[in-house]
Amino acid sequence: MRIYLTKDYDAMSRKAANIISAQIILKPDCVLGLATGSTPLGLYRQLVDWHRKGDLDFSEVITVNLDEYRGLGADDKESYASYMRENLFSLVNLKPENCHLPDGKISDSEEACGKYNALLGSLGRQDLQLLGLGKNGHIGFNEPGEFFGKDVHCVELARSTVEANRRFFEAGKNVPAYAYTMGIRSILRARKILVIASGKDKADAVREVFFGEVTPYVPGSILQLHNDVILVCDEEAFSKCR
Ligand code: F6R
Repeated sequence: MRIYLTKDYDAMSRKAANIISAQIILKPDCVLGLATGSTPLGLYRQLVDWHRKGDLDFSEVITVNLDEYRGLGADDKESYASYMRENLFSLVNLKPENCHLPDGKISDSEEACGKYNALLGSLGRQDLQLLGLGKNGHIGFNEPGEFFGKDVHCVELARSTVEANRRFFEAGKNVPAYAYTMGIRSILRARKILVIASGKDKADAVREVFFGEVTPYVPGSILQLHNDVILVCDEEAFSKCR
């Protein structure tokens, strides 16, 4: 594993954006695995900025997102499809047909997961997979449990995850209890994995994921077994690793 330690969130975002843009320049038709949440917002802003300046071309890039809430479709404003449209897809020259997420509108979990698994299989391995870390060590929506979920599957979100994500929902609106997520095997297939973490809130997760025991009770800990992981982390998130 390579670790880049940065001063703060902005520097983390710039460093991570640099790595993603290097991937796109190296292989313009790469498959990029993407994440949502608060942590990647700065890096998406940076990528958009470079695109606007003419330095980054997404015309051949293919994207696959980690997850989507079950029950929310591309038109629901809290869906991850909307988040991606607002923060990246509609702001760069990605082709809409090259941007993929699980279809939250399919209520039959087996059908939704089977479809996304088949799509991932047809696109081949992600050249680079971006990951944020849940405070409980989750990656994608692979929550702590007795075993590592393998392929795309439907998960019941941990109470802490539902609470953490409530901030993205209008007051009074329920956070969906289930989500479709890439499984651990779908994530580990990536040739390169880029993990970003920022802030004190993530300090325990960073320590346990990268320096603790490999256990499904800390789902991200399985990243220790992947041979090309880059952690870009600010001082606060790394503060319990010293
Ligand atoms: C998002 C995802 C989640 C988040 C994680 C951290 O697509 O799969 O694993 O990366 O919950 O979220 P933030 O960045 O909001 O702290």
